Amino acid sequence: MAERKRLLTGDRPTGRLHLGHYIGTLKNRVKYQHAYESYFIVADLHMLTTKHAPEDIAQVDANARQLVLDAIAAGIEPEQVTFYLQSGVHEIHEMQTLLQNLVTVSRLERIPSLKDMARAANIEMPHGLLGYPVLQAADILCVRSHLVPVGKDNIAHVEVTREIARRFNSLYGDVFPVPEGELGEVATLVGTDGQAKMSKSLDNAIFLSDDARTVEHKVMRMYTDPNRVRADIPGTVEGNPVFIYHDAFNPDRAAVEALKARYRAGKVGDVEVKEALAAAINALLDPMRERRVQYDQSGRIEAILLDGTERVRAETQQTLAVMRKAMGFTGVWNRMRRKADTYTKQQMQQQEKVQP
Ligand code: TRP
Repeated sequence: MAERKRLLTGDRPTGRLHLGHYIGTLKNRVKYQHAYESYFIVADLHMLTTKHAPEDIAQVDANARQLVLDAIAAGIEPEQVTFYLQSGVHEIHEMQTLLQNLVTVSRLERIPSLKDMARAANIEMPHGLLGYPVLQAADILCVRSHLVPVGKDNIAHVEVTREIARRFNSLYGDVFPVPEGELGEVATLVGTDGQAKMSKSLDNAIFLSDDARTVEHKVMRMYTDPNRVRADIPGTVEGNPVFIYHDAFNPDRAAVEALKARYRAGKVGDVEVKEALAAAINALLDPMRERRVQYDQSGRIEAILLDGTERVRAETQQTLAVMRKAMGFTGVWNRMRRKADTYTKQQMQQQEKVQP
């Protein structure tokens, strides 16, 4: 088989994945897992840029496990892909150090998502957070990835990776493919509150691991058209979260169009529209629930993550060797090592002479 191109993406281990993640990137990951050699990073070093309290760190193991489980539940086949824990690949630090000189501070200061993250965490910008895209570049370039499917905020980071890759290639020679960032089909999904994008911290999320009753409950409480106080008043479909979700998650297009028509005409109640939505979301999540239970009980998640981390380490060591060679940054080290070896040999010979 011809060598496949590579794909790399991932998440910080801060909690369970929700429908926004699914439509934003997970669905693409599932779609691409065979066409591309796929790598999924659990980015715990990135988590440290805003969350490094002992309580946060204490949750990394459980959250990493949860991330892998969510991905497998959603349809990723663990035998086909590589899951890995960022902090287990120590060579990533070395790569980041080498890459960080290829981008300027003012370039990084212009990225809005980094300021947003600092603001959301209520902290002043740490050095590590400013360098977030450089660390991300190391993640992407360590396996020489071609495709990086990400959410909207991360497109700007992939752009930095592209600039760093080009800069490296033009300074030292062609080492890295310049990766493409790719957005999911719905860049951001509104939350059940209709106010902001779906997010765990805003309590407006439907999680992939929610059970059927929780989904029904959350859908029934969803925000709809605020002007529609009775079922016989014509309603607005556009921008209405309940219909945004129908469009995103209900595969029965004809049924959705029929509901929209009746809604616009004031001929259907919110309850019926929501019941149909809850049923569609549960139909999407049911197979995920089964796979989750199956893998959760298999005891294999830790091994999947460990094996993957070792594979990526080996790969990153190779990439680093190629980088150093391209940079001409190996010579001094090797010369010193040869000198040190000679010195040790001489010492041993001398010792042998004095102690016959
Ligand atoms: N920055 C991503 C997030 O918002 C996580 C991440 C870390 C990532 N390294 C990556 C995504 C490399 C894509 C490629 O959680």
